[in-house]
Amino acid sequence: MAIEAPAPVPTNPRSIDELRDAAAGCRACDLWERATQTVFGEGSEGAWLMLVGEQPGDREDITGAPFVGPAGEMLDRGLDQAGIDRRQAYVTNVVKHFKWEPRGKRRIHQRPNTEEIRACRPWFEAELQRVKPRVVLCLGATAAQALISPTFRVTRQHGILFPSAFGPMIAATVHPASILRAPDPEAREVAYAGFVDDLRQIAASVKTAP
Ligand code: URA
Repeated sequence: MAIEAPAPVPTNPRSIDELRDAAAGCRACDLWERATQTVFGEGSEGAWLMLVGEQPGDREDITGAPFVGPAGEMLDRGLDQAGIDRRQAYVTNVVKHFKWEPRGKRRIHQRPNTEEIRACRPWFEAELQRVKPRVVLCLGATAAQALISPTFRVTRQHGILFPSAFGPMIAATVHPASILRAPDPEAREVAYAGFVDDLRQIAASVKTAP
């Protein structure tokens, strides 16, 4: 991957909107070339919860908003069932461009590599500074391995709150898309129930923390 320029993060940004505008022209890795647009985080500054996925998918790339496609619907359903209002959360991704390969007429998701994740990291750090959440919840292994530890295993360590180097507590749960990929309805129900349990547990520990 050619690093063309560092991420153009403004110093002392006054708002998420200012960051979003700057990120629209980001060329810190070459994923921008195939993506329709930068998909920046969305939600309120001061949200208690920051949800971090991997990267925008096909729908998100087209609409410009995170978690609005099938994975977003699953996320919304889980949040709702756990009693969490998405409007009280800030939703973003570790990588802000859609990485894909053509297969026939379809655009197939490709996992971002370490350099692409590293190139995008300054945007996450800037979002964190503006939002100042009480907890960051990684959705899936890519976010958890980027933000908690490269050896993080979601299957074994989901739902556990860890202190983070960047301030707020941090935890991980499954990626909502992984629930959709479960091999049968029963496995899907089990994965979904675990997801909702993690969301409930994180919300409860944050509410009871001093
Ligand atoms: N998957 C993600 O990780 N993020 C999105 O925004 C959508 C799907």
